[in-house]
Formats: sequence, C-alpha cells, structure tokens
Amino acid sequence: MKVVLVSGSPRRGNTEWMLRKLSELLTEKGVKVELILLRQRDIKLCRGCLSCEAGGKDRKGLCKIKDDMNSIYPELIEADCWVFGTPAYFELLSGLLKNFMDRTVAIWPRLEGKPMAGLAVAEEGIGQAIQNLKTYATLCGMPWVGSVTCLAKNAGEIANNKSINLRLKRLADKIIDSIKK
Ligand SMILES: Cc1cc2nc3c(=O)[nH]c(=O)nc-3n(C[C@H](O)[C@H](O)[C@H](O)COP(=O)(O)O)c2cc1C
Repeated sequence: MKVVLVSGSPRRGNTEWMLRKLSELLTEKGVKVELILLRQRDIKLCRGCLSCEAGGKDRKGLCKIKDDMNSIYPELIEADCWVFGTPAYFELLSGLLKNFMDRTVAIWPRLEGKPMAGLAVAEEGIGQAIQNLKTYATLCGMPWVGSVTCLAKNAGEIANNKSINLRLKRLADKIIDSIKK
C-alpha cells in the first residue's frame, strides 16, 4: 500500500503540518508514504500545448517540459491513493496546487478508480477549496475518500486545534479502507 501526499502551500505551515501528521499515522499502520512538497520542487506552468495527449487514454505520461514532473508522474501512477493538501487562497485552492493539477493532464486518463482525499486550511473560511479538489477527483474518475479542514492563520497554529489529531486519524483509517476495497 502506498499513498502519495501533495502539499500545495508555499511555506512550511499548517497544510504541511496536517500532511506530515497524516503521513505519520499512515506509516504507523504499515502504509508507505511519499510526501511531495511542491514548494521544494521545480514544476513549471503547463504550456497548454496538449502534446501529452498523444496516445489518448493510453498516453505515456510524457510532458515536453523538462522539470521535476518527469520523475513525479511514475510515483503518482504507482500510488494506491492520493491526498492533496491546500491552503485556502481567496477561498479556492492555491495556485501552486492548481498548476500541479494542470500538469497531470499528461496522466489523468490513467487515474480512474484511484481513491483521493483532501485537506484544506484557512484563516476563517475554507470556501470552495475542498470542492475544487473534489471537482478534480470527479473529472479524473477518482473516488472521493474524505477530507479534513481546519482554521488557522500563522504557520504551526494548527497544532493548537484540539480535534485535529482525531480527525486526521479517522481520515487515515478511511484511506486504508479505500485501498483495501
Ligand atoms: C494569498 C492568500 C490568500 C488567502 N485567502 C484566504 C481566504 O480567502 N480565506 C481565509 O480564511 N484565509 C485566507 N488566507 C489565509 C491562509 O489560508 C491561512 O494563513 C492558512 O493557514 C495558510 O496555510 P499554510 O500555513 O499551509 O500555508 C490567505 C492567505 C494568503 C497568503
């Protein structure tokens, strides 16, 4: 069992805190995890050329842009489940995560049936951030496992939330169940 977790925050903040905690909980249950911090990766903007669509549904997962996505595609395909985490920016997902999503156009027809979960954090309003992740999952045919959201502003503030550990534990259990199905 392998889960890939992707952080769409440009800082080591609350989203990353939740993803690291979820990674720990999954690891404790014997799940292999790969945490991808988009802030540390070289992932350029999708150019919209659609050359990656050659091969249709059997496209090879090749993008003309030479950056870190070339090594990330095989990890994404191999994973049994994905978790995307985002800060709410203007009540939407972050631009960092949206660009990452756009770059998955090279593999999206190969994601059907792979479960996906989401995390989001905001100072006062999550808005559409989780809905944005669900829309992506629906378009890719990825069954939605569940989400955890939390309100926090400054980096690390989320650790003071009394229910966050329990809610992340419940999500970890759901993720494991979704993989076993
Ligand atoms: C560009 C930007 C836009 C933001 N927009 C919102 C917003 O619409 N609603 C909100 O409640 N918080 C908003 N915030 C606050 C962040 O969601 C909040 O600080 C969150 O904890 C950041 O997550 P991180 O620590 O994982 O980066 C915004 C922050 C930034 C930098």
